[in-house]
Parts: sequence; structure tokens; C-alpha cells
Amino acid sequence: MADTTPTGSPSAAEQREAALSEAQIAVHWREEELIPPPPGFQEHANADSGILERFAPENFPQCFEEYANLLTWEKRWDTILDTSGAPHFLWWKGGRLNACVNCVDRHLADRGDEDAMIFIPELEEDEIQHITYSDLHRRVNEFAALLRDFCGLQRQDRVSTHMPMVPELPVSLLACARLGYIHSQVFGGFSGEACGMRAADAQARILITMDSYYRNGELIDHKVKADEAIERARKEGVEIEKVLVWRRMPGEYHSDSPMIEGRDFFVDELLEDYRGQQVEPESMEATDTLFLMYSSGTTGRSKGAQHSVGGYLSYVTGTCKYYLDIHPEDTYWCMADIGWITGHSYILYGPLALGTTTLIYEGVPTYPDAGRPWRIAEKLGVNIFHTAPTSIRMLRKLGPDEPAKYNYQFKVMTTVGEPIEPDVWRWYYHSVGKDKAAITDTWWLTETGGFLGATLPGLQAMKPGSCGPTVLGIEGVIYDEDGNEIPKGSGVAGNICMRNPWPGLMMTIWRQDQRYFDIFFSKYNRDPNSKDWRDWPAMMGDGAVQAADGYFRILGRIDDVINVAGHRLGTKELESAAIEAEEIAEAAAVPVHDETRGRVVEMYVALKPGYEASKEIEQHVSDTLVRVIGPIARPKHVWIVSDMPKTRSGKIMRRVIAGISNFTDVGDVTTLANPDVVESITEHVQSAKRAAGEVPDLSAEAQHEIKTFGADSE
Ligand code: WTA
Repeated sequence: MADTTPTGSPSAAEQREAALSEAQIAVHWREEELIPPPPGFQEHANADSGILERFAPENFPQCFEEYANLLTWEKRWDTILDTSGAPHFLWWKGGRLNACVNCVDRHLADRGDEDAMIFIPELEEDEIQHITYSDLHRRVNEFAALLRDFCGLQRQDRVSTHMPMVPELPVSLLACARLGYIHSQVFGGFSGEACGMRAADAQARILITMDSYYRNGELIDHKVKADEAIERARKEGVEIEKVLVWRRMPGEYHSDSPMIEGRDFFVDELLEDYRGQQVEPESMEATDTLFLMYSSGTTGRSKGAQHSVGGYLSYVTGTCKYYLDIHPEDTYWCMADIGWITGHSYILYGPLALGTTTLIYEGVPTYPDAGRPWRIAEKLGVNIFHTAPTSIRMLRKLGPDEPAKYNYQFKVMTTVGEPIEPDVWRWYYHSVGKDKAAITDTWWLTETGGFLGATLPGLQAMKPGSCGPTVLGIEGVIYDEDGNEIPKGSGVAGNICMRNPWPGLMMTIWRQDQRYFDIFFSKYNRDPNSKDWRDWPAMMGDGAVQAADGYFRILGRIDDVINVAGHRLGTKELESAAIEAEEIAEAAAVPVHDETRGRVVEMYVALKPGYEASKEIEQHVSDTLVRVIGPIARPKHVWIVSDMPKTRSGKIMRRVIAGISNFTDVGDVTTLANPDVVESITEHVQSAKRAAGEVPDLSAEAQHEIKTFGADSE
């Protein structure tokens, strides 16, 4: 039991000081060299050198009009940036537009017969589908007509979607955007329960799903998850009235889940009544909401990042043009999933707003082998490629020589989602890019809508492992715990913040305004009543260092969010899922460095009285996490321990456990309520790991991350 007597416990100030010195450890790693943009690229690149001046700080906020001008507006804005509700910043106030019109209708005249999307089914023998802008327009309109007439929704009502990577997903989302409904797509790999929780938070009455899809060569039953989602939403007090079920193969149903009369409907059957129908797009305010994207945070409840129609769309369009160098005639492939923010911004909205061709790939990158992505690139002439370090590591591991076998050539390649090790970066550059493609390492978050840190591929040199400076129109800074600026080149880490707002920044967290303030602004806000954006630096939750040349190196989350293969999972979320296993009294989740996935989760659990440690219980915890969250949450290990290391006030010291799992220094544990358990857990865990050959070799950045893990929430 936690000892709650105050005598002898360190004061709050002492505790803060201890955390401070750890968060600020000077990190001494080798500075990587700058690599100039590939020769010849600049002449064709979208960015001209004057752009840096046009977006200089003195031109804020009007510089962003250059992004807004890329869109088609029904009515131009009255105010560029409205700060009267700070920190809820509103861009393009008074302006009116429709996101679907911008992504589809406006390209019909010039690009109607060009491919908007190319769908690549996972099975290689299945036919690739080319969907022109005209096809897309027809499909979106027919589905929008169905939604409008069949579902009885109003503008800004929420629609949850839980769809795999198939064209019906963007069709569904664009139809919502056309009608002014707020869509909220939940990653298809998430469990039904996770979907239900999010649908309940969004108060959605409609769920759009699909019966099945291919993953790793297997047709997976997906409709069963809809039943779980509805059950879960009901427990949360929200009744989902209708489930619209697309069929992966129209006319054939591949699920064991029964269709519930009056609740579940096959979309392909309903669509028969809407063939050829056109739907007038809703005229939306720029400051209306386009979608919610849920992400993990430090508490169990996930947060719905609420993104605007005008600000968001202008930001992703502008950053797509300049940072990914998208031209309409390019063939662009982002291998992420539309269920994540990367897919919303940089598969769907940004690329389609620019009228380019965007690929939708259903399956895993290494199916049936690690040559698949390069075959796709060769076959379809992909010239811009976008993926995450976890996929790059996996492709390198399974097929280091595969790229050379295929005749494709990228001009730009992106990496996103987690820090990329310089060594992995080099393989990407030399082997995948064949020394001819610029790499943009794009650092940003679900909440930021689009990029925060990156290099302009035609203008700025690359530096392996660094995302680069902050992007056009955004000024980044690193603050220490007290709000002092940490000078460039000092080698000292701190909290990376943005000095100014930008159009892609979410407006708030859905129905949690206070949390929006607490997470991003409370630490460095200078005056809660201020209407001046200068008083509202936004803290992004990552640790970083800035080199003398202004380039940022991101060190990872400073809160207790675990970045698994580029996807955020909150420790609280994992822990509350683990204790759904009836044997478990207490659980703690920590990140462990992993060669291919970046981080994986290890789960420490203490049992309720009367239970004995066993392999079955470990397995049960693991299965429970998969059931409640999804396969992404499957822990690498479940360690059953007699007790968790705790502070005297009873808080579990995840940082100490993370140190044990990663074989790093656990720091001073003498002030813990139960310092002796540290030794016994260390012995138990580390001897098992040594025996299994699982002793990680951690970089300086990784060690830093483990040392500061959870520091912010203790
Ligand atoms: C991490 C994904 C280093 C970071 C777009 C951030 C990165 C979190 C990078 C957001 C990068 C993302 N280099 N770290 N290029 N990109 N991150 O919300 O810790 O899923 O806070 O958004 O991923 O993850 P999210």
C-alpha cells in the first residue's frame, strides 16, 4: 500500500527540480552533415526562393493568404485570423467554401478524365481500379444523396466511419464534407470497442463500415466490429441508429455478423435508388467543422481533434504543394492509412485539393513480399512517396536489395510519425531514392492538421535525423520548464513550442475546451485573458534540441504517450484496457525500443489476491488489449510483478519501469515508497530478456526519451 504520510517525502519544489534536471540533460550526439537538395530538382519544384521571405514572421498572418488562395471560395473571408476567442483561433472568418467542391468538382473541367485515385487491392492478382475525377464526382454524389435522404441528419451532425483502406472510405468522407456533416473516421485496425467509444464521444447516430477487407492475404471479418461498437456506444449512453455497410465485393457478404433488420443496410443495395443523382454542396463557413480525428492523450478518454473547413483545408493544400511538391500531373503515394491524420491531410484532402492522382493501397507494405511497394511504384509511375520510419525499417530488414530491382524513380520522399535514425534515413536516401530524391522529414501531430517541422525539398538542405526548421509561417522555439528560451546550438533539450498559430491548428478538442487549453497552452500562456496570439505559444508535447543552424531534432513525447510504429497510444488507455482482465489489480504500460517498430509496449501488471502468476494470465492480458484497443496494442511482454515502484503519494513510476525494460539507468529510486521492488523487478525482467537476446542498443535520443518518459504527468 502507498505510504501517504507526508514526513520525509520530497517537497513539490524538490520533485520539480529533479524532473527539471533530467528533462534538461545535455545531449551530446554527433551533428549530421547537411545534404543539399538533389541537383536539377529546384527548377521543377513548386517553391521559388522568394517564398521564405513572403512567409517571414513580419508577414504573419497575411502570408497564409497564399495558401487560402489555392482554394476556390464561394465568398472570401472578412478576417484572416480572429483571435477574440484565444486560444481558439479562427482563420478565414466570414469566408465560405465546401471542401468536397475543392477536392472534386472544381477539377472536373480540366482533369475530369484524369485519375483522382488509384486503388490497389492487397491481392496482387486483383485488378487495380482507376477512378477519374468524373468517376469520383459521380460516386460521391450518389452516396451523398443516399446519406441525405436516408439518414435524416443536419449540417454539422457527426457521422462515424470505421473503414479499411478502400475507395469507399474517401467516397464516404467526401460525401459527408459535401453535406456539411462532420466525419469521424476511426482507424479500421482499431477494435469495435475503440470505435464505439469514439462514436459515443462524437455523439454519432450513423456508423459507416464495410463487411470485410484484405490484410496479409486474408479476408478479415470487419462487420463484427460494428456490433461491438454499437454495444459499447450504448453503454456510453449513445444509440447508433443506422449502420451503413459497404461490401468489399458488392453483392457478396463476407461476415459472420448477422444484418440487423431496420438497423443495418447494405450500401450497394441502397445505392440503386440514387444512381445518377447530384447533390448540391452545402455552403459552409470556413470556421465550421470538417472532421474529428481522435488521438490518444494522457488520460483514458481519447480526444477528438476538431478541424475546421477553411483553415485546415488551406493548410494541407499549401503544405502539400510546397513540402511534398505535388503538381497535378504527379502520381503520389502515401502509404499511411486514411484512418490517421496523415491519411486525412496527405492522402485525401491535400492531394485532391491540388487535383493530383493519389494512390490508395489496401494492404500491408510487405505483402506478399518486401518488393511490393517498388513494384507498385514501377507499375503506376509513382514519383512522390510518403511513409513512416517503421515501414522503412521493415522494408530494409526484409528486402534491403529490393528497390534496386525495380525501375521507378521518386523525386520526393517523405517520412512521418516518429524520429528516423540517421542510418535508416541513409538507406531510404540511397537505396529507395537511388540518390536522386529529396527527403522531407515531416514532424507534426494529429492536432496540428499539417506539418510543423520540415525542409522545403527544392530549397533547403536535408539533415538525417532532423526534421529541419519549422515550416513556412510558423516560428518554433524551445522553452525550458520555466519558459526561458533555450538558445540554438546549446545542445540542451527542452519543450518545442510554436510561437504563433497557423491555419491547420485544430480549433479545440471536441467538447473538451478545458483540456485543449490545459494540454497545449497552460504551461506557457502569459495571460489567460489575452486576445493577442503572441501570448499563446503552443506546446506540442515533444522534447527537442535545436542545432546552431536552426534545425530541430525531435526526441519524442514528453508526456506518457507511447508512439508504437508511428501511432500514439496513451498509457492510461492501455492500462485501463489491461485491467479489464479480471485477474489484474494494477497495470503500467511503458515503451520499449524496438528495431523495426520504433517502440513497442510492455505491460507490467500486479494480480488481485488469490491469483498465481501464469502464462495464461499473461496471454489473457495480451488478448484483452487486442480486444479493447486493437492488434496495435498487443504488448511485446506482459510482466507479472508483486508490486509497482511507487512514489510516496502512490503514483506508479513508469519512468523507472521503462528504464528497467530498456536497460537504461533508472535514476535515483531511494525516495520511492518501495525502493526494494525495483531490484526484484529488474532481476526478473532483465534476466528473462538477456536469455531471449533482447538487450536493446539505445541511441542517445532514445535514452533521453526513456529518462523523461511520463515526466510531465507525474
Ligand atoms: C511523433 C502523426 C519525429 C511526435 C503525424 C509527435 C515525429 C507524434 C515525427 C504525433 C517526425 C511525428 N519526427 N517524431 N517526423 N512525426 N512524430 O498525432 O512525437 O499520430 O508528437 O501525428 O508523433 O503523432 P500523431
